[in-house]
Parts: sequence; structure tokens; C-alpha cells
Amino acid sequence: MQHIESYIKEHKDRFLSELIELLKIPSVSADPAFKDNVFKAADVIKDSLEKAGCDHLEICQTDGFPIVYGEKIIDENLPTILVYGHYDVQPADPVSLWHSPPYEPVIKKTDLHPEGAIFARGACDDKGQMYMHVKAMELMTQTGQLPCNVKFMIEGEEEVGSVNLSTFVKNNHEKLKNDVILISDTGMIAKDVPSITTGLRGLSYVEVEVTGPNRDLHSGLYGGAVANPINILTKMIASLHDENNHVTIPGFYDKVETLSEDERAEMAKAPFNLEAYQKSIGINSVYGEKGYTTNERNSIRPTLDVNGIWGGYIGEGAKTVIPSQAFAKISMRLVPHQDWEEITELFKKHFISIAPAGVTVKVKPHHGGQGYVTPIDSLGYQAASKAYFESFGKTPIPQRSGGSIPIVSLFEQELNSKTILMGFGFDSDAIHSPNEHFGLWNYFKGIETIPLFYKYFTELSK
Ligand code: BES
Ligand code: MN
Ligand code: MN
Repeated sequence: MQHIESYIKEHKDRFLSELIELLKIPSVSADPAFKDNVFKAADVIKDSLEKAGCDHLEICQTDGFPIVYGEKIIDENLPTILVYGHYDVQPADPVSLWHSPPYEPVIKKTDLHPEGAIFARGACDDKGQMYMHVKAMELMTQTGQLPCNVKFMIEGEEEVGSVNLSTFVKNNHEKLKNDVILISDTGMIAKDVPSITTGLRGLSYVEVEVTGPNRDLHSGLYGGAVANPINILTKMIASLHDENNHVTIPGFYDKVETLSEDERAEMAKAPFNLEAYQKSIGINSVYGEKGYTTNERNSIRPTLDVNGIWGGYIGEGAKTVIPSQAFAKISMRLVPHQDWEEITELFKKHFISIAPAGVTVKVKPHHGGQGYVTPIDSLGYQAASKAYFESFGKTPIPQRSGGSIPIVSLFEQELNSKTILMGFGFDSDAIHSPNEHFGLWNYFKGIETIPLFYKYFTELSK
């Protein structure tokens, strides 16, 4: 049986060039202009799964973009791993801030990636990480070391809320039956500090609209006498946090789980350099909820943030105008036990209640999802821990992440199995930002670690 490392070494260049081809497809799910490319990416994934050794492939059409399904069942009595990932990507905007075009992948060295990193939209989130699983599958089938059954479910709507995947999962319990779900769509701390993601935050995303006069008004003729929707909107938004940076929406914290001092002390052991953190994003001080550390603020605590705000005149020069309307997009990151639909309702009720006379307010809910926490004593976590120990030479640290993959809590609810989040990206890889990249070291480390997870999960399941 050929060893994992020697197979990777022998096929390294091809593993990389295949990923580069996939990254050239602009599969942006949010923008209808890219529709054909999203479908094209699905076809490419299907072919790659077939070549990697899956023997039952399907492109499952939905009301939106397709779900690519592939499986290899070697023995009904062996455990089954369900791999989930996504082939859609975020829009590349603002394109002018990219140092190289987002869909023309290039390899460049960085401080954290001295071996080189591949720069392209989707390099880390999630094409690069998802493709590690395809190549790990090839490696296992080609070298005769696939130890259990495997099912792949790769979707094209993760970045827009996975609405059609929810329906697919609800309607396909038998097809998707598994013993553990494996996902690489999160991050790890550092090369010498391997970590496994044990939590994801939930999300409630809303858009608000404040309307004042029935048309834009001359700001001299009417200024001072009517409510200016932008003034009002910014004032309302400012009131959503108090002086300690707590969210002021009544009931917002009611279901938030409080961690014990022991759990917080355990969390604080994860290596963290505040200065390097500040420097990496160009700030001179961190900011946030009083009484919590930076790592707590971005993982175990809920948040409320404005993601975009607009209205009035934003063209060249000055135009004296009181706008008729003002808008904002607001996201709330939630922690386990907070229900996203309930929080959305609380937001809506509160936001409408604080609107002064003279304006009307509308709140339009977008997508959302529940948070997730996975125990570290499960078979899956133990198998992952052993796999990392073998490939990194160190026991990985469990770490709760601030990001969201809303479908994960639905997996648990519908399929009744735990999800293991083996992420290999770094926070500094600029996902969703200009110049997204994924380290070559990370890519190959992932391909090396995944087969070990299969091995240990199968062993521990006996
Ligand atoms: N892969 C990310 C989520 C992520 C990244 C979790 C890093 C943990 C660490 C995923 O593609 C994503 O971007 N999710 C969205 C939510 C979705 C509903 C649009 C997010 O977190 O904003
Ligand atoms: Mn992702
Ligand atoms: Mn994403």
C-alpha cells in the first residue's frame, strides 16, 4: 500500500493544477450574471468526484443551484462518512482592490505562507478546502486504503443561505444516512497550533428601510422642519448598543448560554497575540463588549453589526438634499440556544418601536440559521484529534469559531449526526475579502490529514 505522503508528493502538481482550473470558474451564487458559471462548477465537481472513485454520481437539481452528490459504498456494515462542502463563492467586489484578477489564480509567497499561497476568489472558502476532500478520496481509492463508506454532498448556495439544501436534506434522510458529517469550511489557529472548530455562531440578517417625506427635499427649504431619514436611521442604529457595547434589544440575551469560569479559562489557553492581531488588520485597539476578551467577543458572545448603509446623495460634489429614504443591512451573530427566528422578531419589534413620529420603518428579514456546538468526547472528534496528532505531531485545540454555516444545525436535527469541522484555512486568508488566498502547505496538509480521519473513525467505530 502506497503511503499517503508519497502519493501526495507524486501527484502534487496535478492536485494544484486541478484546483486552479476550478478556481477559474466564477461561480458566484449571489449574482444572476454568473448563473451559467455556477452550473458549470457543479459539472466540474461531478466529474472530479467520478475520477476520484465515487461510483454513483448525481447532479440533483433544485429550485436554485444543483447539489452534487456522489458516493462509494464498500460495505453496508462499515461506517459512512458524509462530506459536505460548497462550490459557490462570494462576489469578488470590490474588484479594484485585488492585486491580481480574482478568477485568474496566481501563486505568491506571504509571511504566513512562505511556501506560497494560491490567490483567487474561493481559494479558501470553500473550493480549496472542499477539493482537499476530493483529492483525499482519490488518494484512498487509488492506494487501496478507503476504510469505510463515503457520501459527498457539495452544494452551490452556501453563500446565499442554503435554502434549497434544507429542503433536499429534509426530503432525503435515507440517501444521506451517515455516521458522521465531515466539513472543511472553517479555519485553524496556526501551522504549529492545529485546532478543530467545535462551534459556529448562528445568524439573523435583516434589511431596514426608513421613509420620511414622499420625495427628496431641498435641504434649505425643508431642513430643520422634517425628519431626515438618514439622521433618524443612524440615531436608531446607534441606540442598539449601550455604553458597554451590550446590545439593547429587549430579550436579546435571554437565552445566551453563560460559560463557566472553568470553560472560559480553558478557552483563554489558546495562543493569542493581541498585538499581532491588531497589526494584521491595521487597527490600534480592539473594541467590543465590556467584560469579555477578544476571543470571547468573536465566538461565545452574540453581536449586532451594520454591514452596509445607504441613502441620499453620494455622487461627486455636493447636492443639498433631504432624502426620502435611508437603508441599512444588519447582521446579528448568535450563539447556541438563541433562536434566529425569535431574535429576528425581537429585532423587528424593537426597531419599529424606537422609530420617532415623522418616519415609517420597515424591517425585511433575510436568511438566518442556528448556531452549533459539538462535544469533544464524540467518536468523530476523537478520530479527528488522532488524525491531527499523527499529521501535525500535536494534539489539536478545540476552538469555537465566530463564523456561521447555518446548515450544520439542520444536519444534526434532520440526520441526527454530529458534524466534525476540520478547517485548514487561516483567519488571515481574507475569505470574502479582496485577495483571498489559501496556503499550499494548508492544502496539502488537509489532503494528508483527511485519510487519517477516515482511518481512525473506522477503527474507533468497531
Ligand atoms: N465558510 C464560511 C463560514 C466560516 C468561515 C465559519 C470561517 C468559520 C470560519 C461560510 O462560507 C460563510 O461565509 N458563511 C456565512 C453565512 C452564510 C449564511 C452566508 C457567514 O458566516 O457570514
Ligand atoms: Mn464557506
Ligand atoms: Mn463564505
